[in-house]
Formats: sequence, C-alpha cells, structure tokens
Amino acid sequence: MKGFEKYIPFTPQPIENRTWPDKSLTKAPVWCSVDLRDGNQALIDPMNLDEKLEMFHMLVDEIGVKEVEIGFPSASETEYAICRELIEGGHIPDDVTIQVLVQARPHLIRKTFEAIQGAKHVIFHFYNSTSTLQRQVVFRTDVAGVKKIATDAAALIYEMAGPVIQGGMDVRFEYSPESFMGTEMDAAVEICAAVLDELHADQNHRVILNLPTTVENCMPNRFADEIEYFVRNLPGRERAIISLHPHNDRGCGIATTEMALLAGGERVEACLFGNGERTGNADLVTLAMNLYSQGIDPELDFTHMDRIIQMYQRCTKMRVPERHPYAGELVFTAFSGSHQDAINKGFHYMEETGTDKWMVPYLPIDPSDLGRSYEPVRINSQSGKGGAAFIMSHKFGFDMPKAMHREFGAIVQRESDRQGVELKPETIYQLFEQEYLKVDGPYSLIQNKLGADVENGVAHSHFYGKLRHKDTVFEVTGEGNGPIDAFFNAIRGERMDRYEFIDYKEHAISAGSDSQAVAYIQLRNKQGRDIFGVGIDHNISMASIKAILCAINRARSMEHREKEAAKRAGSVGTDSAN
Ligand code: KIV
Ligand code: ZN
Repeated sequence: MKGFEKYIPFTPQPIENRTWPDKSLTKAPVWCSVDLRDGNQALIDPMNLDEKLEMFHMLVDEIGVKEVEIGFPSASETEYAICRELIEGGHIPDDVTIQVLVQARPHLIRKTFEAIQGAKHVIFHFYNSTSTLQRQVVFRTDVAGVKKIATDAAALIYEMAGPVIQGGMDVRFEYSPESFMGTEMDAAVEICAAVLDELHADQNHRVILNLPTTVENCMPNRFADEIEYFVRNLPGRERAIISLHPHNDRGCGIATTEMALLAGGERVEACLFGNGERTGNADLVTLAMNLYSQGIDPELDFTHMDRIIQMYQRCTKMRVPERHPYAGELVFTAFSGSHQDAINKGFHYMEETGTDKWMVPYLPIDPSDLGRSYEPVRINSQSGKGGAAFIMSHKFGFDMPKAMHREFGAIVQRESDRQGVELKPETIYQLFEQEYLKVDGPYSLIQNKLGADVENGVAHSHFYGKLRHKDTVFEVTGEGNGPIDAFFNAIRGERMDRYEFIDYKEHAISAGSDSQAVAYIQLRNKQGRDIFGVGIDHNISMASIKAILCAINRARSMEHREKEAAKRAGSVGTDSAN
C-alpha cells in the first residue's frame, strides 16, 4: 500500500439546490475571541495571569471584541484563578460577555458555575465530541450515547443556571458538537435539536450552536454544504445562533469560515493571527480585514496593528510571520519592479483624480488603516528601474526625469546583485551621491562667472569659466540665449564638446531650511548613448552647469573604462578618451 492510500477520504454531505455559492457577505458576524482558551491551550508556555489580562484588555478595550472565551475554569487552579481575577478585579466592561468552556461532565459543570459567580454576562459553553471517528475510537459508543452525554449536561446546566439567572446574572448557553465536520449531519441535527429542547431554547432565548471544524478535513465548499444542510434541517432553527469554530489544518480556515458564513453561520470563534491547536484557529485579523477590504464594517478595530502584534508576541511567545495577511512586516512592500511602478501609478492616479476610493494595484488595502505606512518600495535584485527612482523621490526629494530611471535603476540593480541582499534607502542615496554628486573629474570648474542681460526683451547669458582637466587649466567664454546655451558655446572647440544636449529638468529641493535647486541634464554621445548628469546649487543656473559637467565627466569615465576593457580584450578602440 502506498503512503497516501491509508487515508480515508472525507464523505461529503449530499445537498440539493445549495444556495450559499450565490450569496455575498454583507455584514460582520458576531465575533468571539477564543484566544484566551483555544489559543492559550496550544501554547508551549500558556499565558500567566498578567499576560491573559493584558491580552483581554487589548481584545476588549482596543479591538472591540464583545464576546471573549476566557478559559476553561474547571481545568486547573490557574484557569480558575484567572476567571476570578477577571470578575473580581473589575476587568470586564459592562458590554462585554465572558465565555467559559467546560466538558459535558457534571463535576466540571458544577465547578464552572462556581467560577463565574459575580459576573454580569456569561456564555456557558459546553461540548462533547460527536463524530463517527471519535464515537468509534475514543468513546466506543453510538449516536444515542453521545446524544445522552450532551442532553444530560444540558439538563444539568439548565437546572443550575435557574437560580443564577434569578440572582441577576445574564447567562446564555452554547453547545459545541465537537468534531462536527466529521459527524453525520442527520446525527448532528438530532443531537443539537435535543440539546435545544433541554435548554428550553426559543426565539427570545436563543442558544448558540457552535459548529467546529475541530480538525479541518475537507474543502471549504464541503463544510459550507454541511452548514447549509444543518441549518435547513434543524427543527426550530430560530431558536439557535449558528456559530462557526474553524481550525486550519488544510490551511483553508479563512475560506472555510467565509463560505460557512454564506451558508448560514452568524457568529465566528477565532484567534488573533490564527493561534490555536496545531495549525491554529481561523485568524480573526484576516477575517475582519477581508470584510473591511470589501467595504464592509468589520466592527473590530485593528488600526494599531503594530501594538497588537507586539502584545501578541510578548504574551504568546509566538511570532507573526512576515507574510501574514494584513499584519506581516512585508505585506505592504513591493520588491518587483512592475509592482512598484503600478503602485506608484495608483498613488498618482488617486492624487490626480482626487478619488476617495482606494485604487492602488497590488495593495489590497490602505496600510495607514492599520497604522502602517506604505514602505514605498524595497529594493532587491528583482526590483526594476522605477523602484530606485521612487525611493529617491519619496525619501530624498529627487524627482529624476523618467528617461534617467533606467540608468540609475541599472546602477542600483548591479549593486543589489553584487551584495545579494536588499538595499536600504540610505544605500540607494549613497549610490546616487557617488554616481552623480561626487563626480570629480576629469573636468572641474575652478572659477566661473555667469551674467545675463536683456536686450529688446530678449534674455542673453554670458559664461566665463576657468576649468581644469587633469593638470591643465584653461579658460573658456561663451554667450547664448540661456546659461546652458552659453556654457555649451563656451566649451565649443574643446574636447568636452562631443556631446549633444538632449534634455533638461530642474526642481527645488530642500534639505532642512536650506532650499537648493537640482538640475538633471541628458546628453548623447557620438555612439548614440544617453548619459545623465546631476547638479545641485543655490543658483539654478549654476545647478545646470554643474549637471552638464557631471554628465560630461561621467561620459568620459565611461568611455575610458570601455576603452580599457576593449584593450584588455585585445581589440583597441578608435576613439581616444584621455
Ligand atoms: O475545536 C473545537 O472543536 C473546540 C471545541 C471545544 C469548541 O475547540
Ligand atoms: Zn477549537
């Protein structure tokens, strides 16, 4: 037998004319956080009192969860003490209901009633396992056997709750047929209906029927079929609130929850960042933010995501992975060049059109809704030309002409390939500085004078300069209809005069209170290659002249390097670049 042949495929529940696939989610379900119970019981080191309190306060005070399963008070002294502290310490806001879990066993039920004394609103949650597998392997009983466990517990709970309710506590009931997904649906319906009867459920006293994928062993559509079948066939369906408790063994916990909501679920039990037994419970953050991203109010607040992550990691000693939906460190970052470009365009489009709708490709939601800022672009060897330009513009205020993106992008990509790691914005700036702002030779301007006059309404510029080329100093003068023209006329006849002027761009740039101008010049050499230069100066005309010199110097160095390379390869070039 091959390894996979030992597995028994899931038996789907046949259902005719299912309706859930045609539905859409239009509102948030009732949320119940099971972080302090299901999440906690799955930790290597369960939370201590302080950690549980911290998480409880974050859940109710900041995130806005109204139902919280606080633990399993009959399971241990610690769990009992935490329940008491929450109640006696006045930690529970009046509009929050605590939920306590207990197995369907009489002595544990009694202990749990003791634990909740003094609370205002309580959901008394009991469970027993009902699946075919558990009946056969664990309990060695039939449907009638597990049904009796459930109804006996329900009867005791109803009896014990009477005086407590009379005493003023708001107690509601929740029953979980544990491993529901592996239970024959007719059996699940029969057991749950009997439990509703024992608890005297009616429209005004609805009982929560919590239907778990205790182990996620089928595709989300199969689970949704089960839920639709269950809801259709439950006698007196209006007596129940249909709750979902999906785990994530197949990695489909979110899809399972969402489809099951379409199929009739009204309430969801979930954990922050999908903590929980094995692969975890469904993730509360993703569920809520998926609704949010569709324009639906999730009725939970994750605007301080970083603080929530820090609290979660501190209390659970678990980690939120970098790619965790909505929360991971890398989820609002684009490395790919085409993604970076499209994101950039999305931001520009929104600005240009003034739309109040989110229209940025590759970012499903606005990171600032989670208290995050868009990490504009992060640069690695996969990033394209636009990414480096975006960083230079958004982080450092250099708005390079579009034509220059390719040249600078290639410089950044080479460095990123060389280093084999992501390049930080500071490194990208250093590359820019090295390449364009700190070019020193072969030509340098020792002295210059730039003047302008207007004759008959026409501006006229004069340039005088003393230039150094290696050890030679020479003077040039020229006139033109602007500073760039005057400079080009001044160097006419010099060896620097072998480049065609193509384009020019300038803008102001402020470093602190100091405002300067930056100019970008595009030249073309005789081989048709475009080369860029950048100049910064308080005087815009000087910035352009520096930019021309920068472009010429870069071109000369490039040609020199190429000549050397050709020599090394055994073929000497014809153009001399001294
Ligand atoms: O996963 C599960 O079935 C549970 C029940 C106790 C609700 O956690
Ligand atoms: Zn569970």
